[in-house]
Amino acid sequence: MPVSRRHFFKQVGGVAGAIAAGTLFNPRFAKKVEAAAAKIAHLTPSEAASDEDFWFTVQQAFTTTRGIINLNNGGVSPSTKIVQDALQRYSEFSNEAPAYTMWSILGPRREMIRTKLAELAGCSAEEIAIVRNTTEALGNVIFGLDLKPGDEVLTTNQDYPNMMRAWQQREKREGIIVKTVSIPTPPKNLSQITEALEKGITNKTKIIMVSHIIFLTGQITPVREICDMAHRRGIEVIVDAAHSFAHLDYNIPDLGCDYFGTSLHKWLCAPFGTGLLWVKKEKIEKLWPLLSPENPRSDDIRKFEALGTRSFPIELAIGEAINFHNGIGSKRKEERLRYLKNYWAEKVSTFPKVKMLTSLHPEQSCGLGNFSIEGIEPGKICDYLFNKHKIYTTPIGHEEFKGVRVTPHVYTRLEEIDFFIDVVKEISRRGIPS
Ligand SMILES: Cc1ncc(COP(=O)(O)O)c(C=O)c1O
Repeated sequence: MPVSRRHFFKQVGGVAGAIAAGTLFNPRFAKKVEAAAAKIAHLTPSEAASDEDFWFTVQQAFTTTRGIINLNNGGVSPSTKIVQDALQRYSEFSNEAPAYTMWSILGPRREMIRTKLAELAGCSAEEIAIVRNTTEALGNVIFGLDLKPGDEVLTTNQDYPNMMRAWQQREKREGIIVKTVSIPTPPKNLSQITEALEKGITNKTKIIMVSHIIFLTGQITPVREICDMAHRRGIEVIVDAAHSFAHLDYNIPDLGCDYFGTSLHKWLCAPFGTGLLWVKKEKIEKLWPLLSPENPRSDDIRKFEALGTRSFPIELAIGEAINFHNGIGSKRKEERLRYLKNYWAEKVSTFPKVKMLTSLHPEQSCGLGNFSIEGIEPGKICDYLFNKHKIYTTPIGHEEFKGVRVTPHVYTRLEEIDFFIDVVKEISRRGIPS
């Protein structure tokens, strides 16, 4: 049933399908989106990416300020009004008589959210734990794997600090060894990333951890190729999918990995503090949970949810975020995000002294991009963009490169990006006024 429902959404073309399934949106908004979707039903996802009438309707679902231009949605994304309303509703209901309404009524309904997440991820609900974020998801994996002193963990020097710190803690406490490899920025082709990791493998390597989309530049990595290479050598693979879930259109099992963590408050636009841990069914039993379930050796994925009292309202409101995502359509959303990145990146890369640190090849990047301007510190560029023009971006500093990361979202309007492009043009020509 999970996968067939997902196919249903795909077949009927996104919004109309989600509405036909009868769960989402307030009725007035639903009609508008349905009509917008019907108008683009004949377009491919990449053709629909530039249909501003359709995206205008999608933009109306958000309550974002237009008082700033927020081009840092990679950090955390806004929820739609529908999700905010659901959160408030569940919160008020919880407060009626919390021990009863939360634990007896809302708690069991979490299972429907697990099922919906599984449909979205193209996997079994029995492989999905609902957690608070990628840090918690992958914390379970990093601290839960049996490793002995001298065992090696291999990753790139562009993986996320929280995960690196967790590994370093195990290094200090238990004497495992964490090794990183450098990868080209950007690579000429995706296989260069696999090759760099393969070169780092020794006969002590037990685990490879890799980001599906690198947070610094938006680089997409060839996860399937890396997993196949690692598995041929008996090495397990952990995927940090903080940026790829509900951004790229894929099914988790197709990545071929063993463990996978993501944050739902990023590209899915679910409430803040929601995440997902996926563990391949046959690996659940051997992975120790971070907290305190009754049976830590159980093969029930719910053992990773033994958090104690937690917010059921935020978890249940994930359901509306999934409906909204399905309403747009996964592939359509991916193509829109890629279109927005290309829209600004193709223009700014023609300006003097501007260099893209992100490849624009469709298999190498989607919605995130990073650019630098020769001779100007990224921090200064970001400060100027915000202080003078209210354009919010994020500076990226790495030992091998520096740049400004730019991440629009589906609610971003093209004229906002046009304005950003004009300001970058001005900076690239005249520098930053003192
Ligand atoms: C690649 C990557 N992994 C993990 C995280 C941590 O996400 P969270 O703070 O939601 O746990 C981030 C956050 O930006 C990230 O970019």
